[in-house]
Amino acid sequence: VKLKVLLATLSGLVSAATVAGPIEDQIRFRQSAYTFLAWNSSRIKSQAVDHPETFDKDQVIAAANAIAATANSGLGALYGAGTEKGIGWKTTRLKPEFFQQPDDASKVGVAFIVEANNLAKVAESGDVGQIKAQFGKLGETCKGCHDKFRIKTD
Ligand code: HEC
Repeated sequence: VKLKVLLATLSGLVSAATVAGPIEDQIRFRQSAYTFLAWNSSRIKSQAVDHPETFDKDQVIAAANAIAATANSGLGALYGAGTEKGIGWKTTRLKPEFFQQPDDASKVGVAFIVEANNLAKVAESGDVGQIKAQFGKLGETCKGCHDKFRIKTD
């Protein structure tokens, strides 16, 4: 039901109307959002993939809900025009291709939102195998966007 709203948000991701403050602020919020995603992803990886003996259903649900909430928060608003250059907490790694290939940018963004919401659903089951599988699908969407639109560091 909510997907329509999310799609609308994402498809507006290159329009000036969605810009959330100065370029440096957008980059800073963006980098913070992804760092928060990484923390929550690492908790699930640890408990459902690497050390299933430490699995704690409530913690995994909390982490999955945090990921879904971040995905649903309208991150597209942090991709205003001109934000492929600039310094937030550090120099941005967004590739200019993000703005040159809006359909692809939208596609990877939507895939991420869909799989993040699926993970939140699957987490409720408490089934480690299912959570691990769905976490893998989510990870592919992170990678899908990074491979295309994030500058490599090493
Ligand atoms: C729609 C594209 C997209 C998706 C989906 C995405 N990322 Fe990223 N990610 C980026 C971009 C672009 C940057 C660089 C941001 C910047 O520097 O402005 C980034 C940066 C990061 C960073 C570095 C943050 C920092 O300190 O600068 C981490 C960690 C990260 N992403 C993790 C993840 C994880 C984990 C997921 C999935 C759960 C994910 N990302 C999904 C595009 C994406």
